[in-house]
Amino acid sequence: MGHTTSTSVSARGRSTVPLLLVALVWSTSAVMASAQAPTSLAPAGWDAGIKLSEARDRNPDPSIVEIDLTARLADVEVAPGKIVKAWTYDGGLPGPLIRAHVGDRVIVHFTNHLPQPTTIHWHGVRVPIEMDGVPDISQPEVKGGDIFTYDFIVRDAGLYWYHPHVMSAAQVGSGLYGALLVEDPADAVGVIDEITLVLSDIGFDSKGVLESADSGGPAGMVFGREGNYILVNGKVMPTLRARSGAPQRWRIVNAAKSRYFLLDLEGQPFYVIGADGGLQERPETTETLLITPGERADVIVTPRGSSGGTLTLRAQLYNRGYGSVEYRNVEDVLTIAFSDQPTLPVQTLPAVHRDIAAPKVAGATRVDVVLTLPPAGADGKSEFRVNGVPFWKAKPYMATVGETQLWTVKNESKFAHPFHLHGFFFLPLDEKLEPIHPMAWKDTLNVPIDGTIRFLVVFDERPGMWMFHCHILDHADGGLMGHVHLGPR
Ligand code: C2O
Ligand code: CU
Repeated sequence: MGHTTSTSVSARGRSTVPLLLVALVWSTSAVMASAQAPTSLAPAGWDAGIKLSEARDRNPDPSIVEIDLTARLADVEVAPGKIVKAWTYDGGLPGPLIRAHVGDRVIVHFTNHLPQPTTIHWHGVRVPIEMDGVPDISQPEVKGGDIFTYDFIVRDAGLYWYHPHVMSAAQVGSGLYGALLVEDPADAVGVIDEITLVLSDIGFDSKGVLESADSGGPAGMVFGREGNYILVNGKVMPTLRARSGAPQRWRIVNAAKSRYFLLDLEGQPFYVIGADGGLQERPETTETLLITPGERADVIVTPRGSSGGTLTLRAQLYNRGYGSVEYRNVEDVLTIAFSDQPTLPVQTLPAVHRDIAAPKVAGATRVDVVLTLPPAGADGKSEFRVNGVPFWKAKPYMATVGETQLWTVKNESKFAHPFHLHGFFFLPLDEKLEPIHPMAWKDTLNVPIDGTIRFLVVFDERPGMWMFHCHILDHADGGLMGHVHLGPR
């Protein structure tokens, strides 16, 4: 269990932790080690009904992950007899899980066999701008039949994901997304039973034909279209098996183009240990877990129930704007089915700790952003605006390599927006400009209706035009996007 202790005191090489804390964490880990053997506690085949397929690394070099990936149409069965003609990576929904270790070089030979141009954006990964997948900024669009090679180093452990950045709402909504898990041996937290869960949704009719990407017209854009089937790893209401009382680590990403997931496990707690950019400052327990589009959560759950019984993971209603709670029901997401093994005694959960050095507020350049949705024009068209202008009229925001900026994003529209910045992590602050604890690196953060978020971002040595946008992809297409021009010092 030594690795747990090393995680606790120094995630990724930061190592100045007071001695007292080291001692404290050490003893907690020691208790955990004796209480919980580092072996699987889950029933055999617990994740067989749900596990993601994985990309095949064809490079023997242990520090290079080299894969082939093809975007193409495929018939995908999301539930018995329910087949959708989806847009996929490698024929699967979601695309294959790409696994790498922190510091690895990832090479993806990408082929586009879609009837449309596309690109791949590596959401949350600190890639060079040339690998960011934004057409005309990072690279030309990859046309049908063309090949593009993505090649970058994964610097940070955590769960990331990949998706197109061309007609994003339509392409992501049609099934183009997958997870990228960057592991760090130091991040093993002592819970062996781990699974990556890609939450999403998809809309299609009884013939398996995808719902049109502009269904509902301008009102559909303003709401942010949700598919009628909720998917976990591409399946409707899959089953995960569990031994009552045995902890499981869930690495979750919300890849839906608009849908929020406010998860609830019949009131049983989520022990949150990490967010978008890896482990967080310290764990936090919550009964409902909000994951907005683009966000990730790293949680430990210890489902409890009677042998042979079940527990349901549900999505509760969350008010993200008109249409999200009216005439809507709580929805089922996945079933946990208990084995007939006896319930395990209460486990001590790992005292995960990450030393996060908050950037300084003093000296940070202020950037104020207001999000609005003016009434529709005479043509019935609506557009979201950032500081008064939609994306197509906006000038870039400016930054310099090495600069720290303090962003305030105020929401004056009647819809919530998951605000996403490409290429950089940021640290959320409260209204007093103090870091929100537990501190966690984020790249996507919900701005509630009438709410304001504040964050610090340090622009590192990767100049370029970096996008920010709402991750309700219909909103992004509807104007809620912008650029940061990061120039040399
Ligand atoms: Cu998931 Cu422009 O991003
Ligand atoms: Cu939005």
